[in-house]
Amino acid sequence: MRLGAFGVLLLAACSSALTQSNSGSQSEPRVVVVPPDELSGNPAVPSSSVRSEPAAAAIPEKGDSGQQYASASAGSGQVSIARKHSYNSCNVPGKQIALTFDDGPHPELTPKLLDYLKERGIKATFFVIGKNAAAHPEIIKRMVDEGHEVGNHSWSHPALNKLSAAGVSSELDKTSEAVASACGAKPHVMRPPYGATNAALNRKFDEEFGMKAILWDVDPLDWKYRNSARVTSQILENAKPGSIILSHDIHATTVAAMPATLDGLLQKGFTFVTVSELISLDRPVEVASAKPAPSANP
Ligand code: NI
Repeated sequence: MRLGAFGVLLLAACSSALTQSNSGSQSEPRVVVVPPDELSGNPAVPSSSVRSEPAAAAIPEKGDSGQQYASASAGSGQVSIARKHSYNSCNVPGKQIALTFDDGPHPELTPKLLDYLKERGIKATFFVIGKNAAAHPEIIKRMVDEGHEVGNHSWSHPALNKLSAAGVSSELDKTSEAVASACGAKPHVMRPPYGATNAALNRKFDEEFGMKAILWDVDPLDWKYRNSARVTSQILENAKPGSIILSHDIHATTVAAMPATLDGLLQKGFTFVTVSELISLDRPVEVASAKPAPSANP
């Protein structure tokens, strides 16, 4: 339904966004800000994306990353620059990737992982559970002191799309406060537990809570297959420039996989940035026009 209505949706999104632009002549080129989730043509991350597994396992939603940057609607003279609320990966100029670790901090495993990262000068992003952060503030402080980014993964790991607005606020605010009290700054990025989100929620996370929703494009299913060799091979086979790689620092097999994984990624020439740094490198992907430009000499 929404796929078929893509053109209408695009125009509707453009016109609803025109309040942010001038309301003058229709013929003048102009820039409008369009919520990207409405442009993807994807029935963006419906409630069916809720995973029943105990940890994040969503398959990346196609069209929720690069294609979120939509450009010209053909022949209209309009240029749309999408404001992205969520990311599965980024379109970057080099071989930058972002490693992300969810569900910690874990009192023994996370410090061990931090050691592995430090030995190699690698920066990562930790999407922490608020109650774990509150229990181990010294680990949060160490993360930040060593150049890593700390993101919000909710207080108690519920599916946020099943909660009331007050429930979502409580989960996110308590976690951001726990992180801030540990390291002095609130997170700028969040990851919805189970990848359970939708376009409206992603916009809410961004506009109301000041956090981009960070999904992923590489998932070794490390929570499911507790096999270090598999974690390493899955990540090495699937990482590409701009990737956001998901794994969990609460599993011994995952942390044990990291020395070989990190060394393998280094050997492939990847460089490691935090999620916020990766986002800052993200560039629009051109979307081909459906129709050729009108002739200058009619
Ligand atoms: Ni999780």
